[in-house]
Amino acid sequence: MLSIKGKTVLVTGGAGFIGSHLCDTLLEKGAGKVVCLDNFFLGKMENLQEATSHENFVLYHDDARNFGTVQAILGKEQVDVVFNLATIALNYSFFNPFDAYMVNVEIANTLLELLKMEQYRTLIHVSSSEAYGSAKYSPMDENHPTDPTTPYAAGKAAADLMIHSFSKVLDLDISIIRPFNNFGPRQNAEGPLAAIIPATARKIRQGETPMIEGTGEQTRDFIYVKDTVRALVAAYENEDSRGKIINIGSGSDISINYLMKKICDYLGYDGEIERRESRKSDVQKLCASSDRAKKYLGFTPEYTFEEALKETLDWYIKHAKL
Ligand SMILES: NC(=O)c1ccc[n+]([C@@H]2O[C@H](COP(=O)([O-])OP(=O)(O)OC[C@H]3O[C@@H](n4cnc5c(N)ncnc54)[C@H](O)[C@@H]3O)[C@@H](O)[C@H]2O)c1
Repeated sequence: MLSIKGKTVLVTGGAGFIGSHLCDTLLEKGAGKVVCLDNFFLGKMENLQEATSHENFVLYHDDARNFGTVQAILGKEQVDVVFNLATIALNYSFFNPFDAYMVNVEIANTLLELLKMEQYRTLIHVSSSEAYGSAKYSPMDENHPTDPTTPYAAGKAAADLMIHSFSKVLDLDISIIRPFNNFGPRQNAEGPLAAIIPATARKIRQGETPMIEGTGEQTRDFIYVKDTVRALVAAYENEDSRGKIINIGSGSDISINYLMKKICDYLGYDGEIERRESRKSDVQKLCASSDRAKKYLGFTPEYTFEEALKETLDWYIKHAKL
């Protein structure tokens, strides 16, 4: 088993929601150096407050698609492992479908080429459950067909295919991780790319009406971000995960109606919920089989949904401008 201790790690998308938690965890676990590469499309400096106070943290404000940029960073920092999290959130598919797709493929292309050139040793690639599309059976294992319903998801699925095939043909050191729906502190709460939990909390706190798209009976498998980043580190440390696609989820799904009720109850809101038309090509059901994560990473989530939701909402009340 490998250890992250002492390793030089590059996190693409490290100023984003999951990426910033990963940077903090890597520093806590004794990584020799954590190099964050983010173009700040959605990343925020405030997400890196803890990390930037650490002497082993380095930040590059740049584009992970750019081969020359990434090559220069890998060369300068002598990186051992890259965690690839850079992307543009799913809803971007409705504004700029081409870019929502291409960002995932182009970054994967750059990182693969540089891995093939031995510019670093290991790639932990972060995919998404969205690559599967709606559950055709449940829980969804990694053999579930991929049937993406948005350009974002298609870009994720395409990048996975490219990475998986390269890893087989060239015997590259790669693990592909497919997280299901993450939530927790620092998730984007504003604008058209906002995630449902922080957006709902923000609306309620600001006296606006929270909103559900579609019937609300669509389900998601929610997992706490602190569990996900633990799984990502475990993916690097457990070499048995190489060459595999591995789901990270809680193993059970809840409806958006149920989620909304939990948020409203916690925040003491009993007002109206606005109902809007279903988002185009919304996935109807996602629920992870976590057998592989357990087998190859020894991973099971530590947080219950209730504990994690409470911690998340408390964080938004305390920290965010809600
Ligand atoms: N949040 C979830 O529920 C979820 C679920 C499954 C998978 N994922 C995956 O996890 C990863 C992180 O997601 P997140 O929720 O933290 O998203 P996020 O939007 O908060 O973070 C993505 C980061 O990537 C940066 N970025 C975008 N394009 C870039 C580029 N070309 N070069 C450098 N940086 C760039 C953004 O500025 C942002 O900081 C993504 O790959 C996403 O697909 C997320």
